[in-house]
Amino acid sequence: MKTRVFKMSRDSIDAGLINEAAECIKRGGTVIFPTETVYGLGADGLNPDAVRKIYVAKGRPSDNPLILHISSPDYIDAIANYGGGGKIGKLIERFWPGPLTIVLKKNDKVPDISTGGLDTVAIRMPDDEIALMLISGSGTAIAAPSANISGKPSPTNAEDVIEDMDGKVDIIIDGGPTGIGLESTVVDMSSSVPKLLRPGGITIEELRDTIGDVELDPSTSGNGSPQGKVRSPGMKYRHYSPDAGMLLVEGGLKETAETIKALIKKERDNGGKVVVGVLSCEENRGEYDADYILVPGSRFNPSDYAKNLFSMLRKFDRLGVDVIFAEGIPAEGLGFAVMNRMRRAAGGNIITL
Ligand code: TXA
Ligand code: MG
Repeated sequence: MKTRVFKMSRDSIDAGLINEAAECIKRGGTVIFPTETVYGLGADGLNPDAVRKIYVAKGRPSDNPLILHISSPDYIDAIANYGGGGKIGKLIERFWPGPLTIVLKKNDKVPDISTGGLDTVAIRMPDDEIALMLISGSGTAIAAPSANISGKPSPTNAEDVIEDMDGKVDIIIDGGPTGIGLESTVVDMSSSVPKLLRPGGITIEELRDTIGDVELDPSTSGNGSPQGKVRSPGMKYRHYSPDAGMLLVEGGLKETAETIKALIKKERDNGGKVVVGVLSCEENRGEYDADYILVPGSRFNPSDYAKNLFSMLRKFDRLGVDVIFAEGIPAEGLGFAVMNRMRRAAGGNIITL
């Protein structure tokens, strides 16, 4: 398949090209588009043949359900049982458009393939002008997982999208780097107690502040697979992983640096053939004798970590790094979502000090 790339900036959106992309969605094609979180691989979420193309392009297991993207809260009732008001109304009012995905009981307009056979559907209204124009132009709900090959870090810029998806989709809209850098928060509102299924751009504190009690699914910490049934099926797969081996070190600023220095020394003493990368916070960047040091930001600024984490994991692979030693940050506020992704990228290789 020949993939066309439509390049535009958010302050001069090319309505003609967006219209072409929307027509492509209507015809059952695939379009990758930017959102405020990460790039999404979109198709008509109400057309099973179109949705199937998403799973093929990503190499994604088809029991892993998709988020349906809408351009107005008014569209919710076309795909789910809602009716307005209540806690869901409060969430929508405060956080939409934005990085919050709400899981509701679905209606029969939504095909099983979009929800992995579940009786619920995940819905989000993204805060991105290009995405909103594409969705409203297509006149449907756009199913869109992150636009990476299944298992790899989500793409936050067009270069990373093209690396994974050139030749696998009809159109890529290059709208420049995304703002937040981590995927949306997923909250299940389909049963009596709201439950956080995936931490993201909206924090648990903000959710509780808006609707009161919110349970935490055990998978949200990112530490290993939880016992029993997995509520957000996407969270059970190895995810966000660079090709290089990654070891995550969680602890205080100084002890983390000492531990990683000792790990690097051990690699060097073993003959030195291993290409070592360190994902270091700003505060520790001068500490390491590694082949490559990438710095997402200050340990105390989780939003910089969120923005840069995925693209840096991909960069280590491009640099040919064999092993990444990564510094953790405090798992508070947005740092909780950052650590969820880092722990999962490390696939359980974690040293807790
Ligand atoms: O920020 C985002 O959410 C991005 C952009 C493109 O919008 N999308 C995204 O989609 O991250 P994806 O497919 O990579 O992740 C969707 C997550 C998965 O963990 C999936 O299991 C969960 O949402 N999910 C989807 N439908 C669900 C449902 N009905 N019940 C529970 N979890 C669901
Ligand atoms: Mg994903």
